[in-house]
Amino acid sequence: MPKTPDYFHGKTIVITGAASGIGRATALIFAREGANVVCADIDSAGAARTAETVIQHGANAISVPTDVCSREQVNAMIAQAVEQFGQVDFLFQAAGAALRRAKFLEIDDALYDKTFELNTKGVFLGMQAVLPHMLGRGFGVIVNVASMSHKRGGPGASVHYAAAKGAVLTMTLGVAREFADRGIRALSISPGPVNTPFQAAANTAPELMAKFKDDVPMKRYGEPEEIGELVLFMCSDACTYMTADTVYVNGGGGWR
Ligand SMILES: NC(=O)c1ccc[n+]([C@@H]2O[C@H](COP(=O)([O-])OP(=O)(O)OC[C@H]3O[C@@H](n4cnc5c(N)ncnc54)[C@H](O)[C@@H]3O)[C@@H](O)[C@H]2O)c1
Repeated sequence: MPKTPDYFHGKTIVITGAASGIGRATALIFAREGANVVCADIDSAGAARTAETVIQHGANAISVPTDVCSREQVNAMIAQAVEQFGQVDFLFQAAGAALRRAKFLEIDDALYDKTFELNTKGVFLGMQAVLPHMLGRGFGVIVNVASMSHKRGGPGASVHYAAAKGAVLTMTLGVAREFADRGIRALSISPGPVNTPFQAAANTAPELMAKFKDDVPMKRYGEPEEIGELVLFMCSDACTYMTADTVYVNGGGGWR
């Protein structure tokens, strides 16, 4: 929560992956706080639905169909946000996917390349697009979604994905330290398993889903709002000395 009650009122957040799961939940949390929300997603209908819901909650929103793998589209996403709301204060990058589970020796070039393009390059493009604007204002907070899997390495199912998320964590660290004395903070979040369409999108086998849950000391998946509230805190004026690191949200996850 912010230190100042109206802190988010009139400030603008751009959220990628806003159509679903963690991105959508975070959009509604920022709406509750009175922020302007730019809902970006490759799923344009889903992004539009989130934007409509934000507006129903009394905040301002636009939806911007965006493939985070395209530099042109990501640049346009930031430009549209600035045009609409005058400024971008926060960027939350939740677009991402495990795409397909595969044993290490079965990861082919296409799966490897797409996994890094979406999960790592997408985050890279977003930061390159927004930073000139944020540096011009001397203020901005970037929050990227990594994954607890980077600690475990994803053996047997997701080494490609875990490695791509490890790169997100490292890139966030580097960007945060490079711009730390220019008003920019950058953080990543490393969730354990969260109850969203993510596992279905990766066709995760029921046994693997059960194992993920069993490995969590709290014996449940997290809810997307349990990530979104952390994003709110990270972006707030109650969190001004925290930058560069990742924060684990994982029910005590045993993979650390
Ligand atoms: N759910 C989990 O268990 C879990 C755990 C750790 C990390 N994560 C990470 O959390 C983030 C959010 O995932 P989620 O659980 O909300 O899943 P989700 O599937 O509900 O949402 C992901 C969103 O990303 C969007 N997306 C996919 N490719 C895109 C592209 N090229 N351009 C723009 N948008 C694109 C999808 O359309 C979807 O709306 C992801 O980065 C994921 O890797 C999820």
